[in-house]
Amino acid sequence: MNIIRNIKGTHDILPPETKKWQNLEKIIRQSSEQFGFEEIRTPMFEQTKLFSRSVGSNSDIVSKEMYSWDDRDGTSLTLRPELTASIARSFIQNNLKARSPLNKLYYMGPLFRRERPQKGRQRQFHQFGVEALGSEFPEMDAEIISIAWTIILKCQLNGSTSLQLNSIGSSECRERYRDALKNFVRPHLKDFSETSQKRFSENALRLLDSKSNKEQLILNDAPKISEYYTKNDKSHFEKVKELLQTLKIPFSINSKLVRGLDYYSRTVFEFTSSSLGAQNAILGGGRYDTLIKDLGGKETPGIGFAAGMERFLIAMKVEEDNNSKIDVYVACILEEGLQKALHLSNELRKIGMRVTSDPLRRSLKAQMRDANKLESKYIIIIGKEELESEVFIVKNLNKGDQEVLTYSELIELFKKVII
Ligand code: HAM
Repeated sequence: MNIIRNIKGTHDILPPETKKWQNLEKIIRQSSEQFGFEEIRTPMFEQTKLFSRSVGSNSDIVSKEMYSWDDRDGTSLTLRPELTASIARSFIQNNLKARSPLNKLYYMGPLFRRERPQKGRQRQFHQFGVEALGSEFPEMDAEIISIAWTIILKCQLNGSTSLQLNSIGSSECRERYRDALKNFVRPHLKDFSETSQKRFSENALRLLDSKSNKEQLILNDAPKISEYYTKNDKSHFEKVKELLQTLKIPFSINSKLVRGLDYYSRTVFEFTSSSLGAQNAILGGGRYDTLIKDLGGKETPGIGFAAGMERFLIAMKVEEDNNSKIDVYVACILEEGLQKALHLSNELRKIGMRVTSDPLRRSLKAQMRDANKLESKYIIIIGKEELESEVFIVKNLNKGDQEVLTYSELIELFKKVII
């Protein structure tokens, strides 16, 4: 019979790999909470229109990457391809604005995009991210980028990671710039690919994202968005740059960075890593000052980022965790002793030890081997004599010595060990 396999682009995360995930999750939680962010969890699927109205119907995500289906009542539903839209929906629906003028939220979880799988690109992948809803000021931008940088430093990725920064201005600026860009590209349009020609008519700013060298060469002479900033766009961006310099966060300006999601305005940024292949973006984000209003909420500026956790872990190249996984191994060689072994294991767990026993009824030799394999610090042996005289053999596997102890002596010993 054919065995059932996982779906292309999805992965099992097995032990000991899961330990690396737990370590990364710990860094993310600690750092986000140090900046005063609280965790938010939203459902894995939403109404499709949430994403088409926020990320944008012409974006790659909505136009070709979503897992969508019609529910039995005919409503179109979608497995979430990103989380900013879900958080905006939740913010509006739960009236989080009434809770506080500034909501600082962080998240982690799986997302789904039907992309072509390759290194660092899956169809089910995981992101962590933060969203700050309520502040329009540049110090919020700097703080968001500072959280990203803090996490990158804690993961020791700073050597291989660089930050690209841009401002795509307000909608007023983008409207004028779009016209100027189209006027510049129009005479060259016949030399552009089909994708770029489509972008020209549907979302001209994304022309700047082109992967073609030939198109990029032409675009090098295109007008720059910075020439179209309003006075406020300009002063906002200047302040963000100044604050990043004060915080000693290295960055370079990339005037072609537009990002592929429609909700952005003003500041956009991306961290890329040289330890990854073609999929080198490890973290991306930006400001979205009109998203909440566009989705029917009260006008609330927002800014955030999200990072691919798989990409972080590839770049981190974390070494194998060689720490022992267990403190005590309770070996029992008699059926009559099993009850005692289970009871003792639980008593030791109550005082904080990590304990395992053998439910395979193996020989003492095999249990000793297992204890060594698990790198247990101690092994307790329950044999016939020990059962009769109500004592336990306790062997320190690091030092190699052994003692015979009563139950209370044994508990006392481990209470000292745990301290
Ligand atoms: P994004 O650029 O679409 O932004 O995704 C953010 C990060 O998720 C990427 O930089 C990458 O590391 C990771 N990622 C994306 N697609 C995949 C994939 N197929 N496989 C593995 N990793 C992937 C957003 O999602 C925005 N919501 C970010 C944001 C938050 N902007 C404001 N707030």
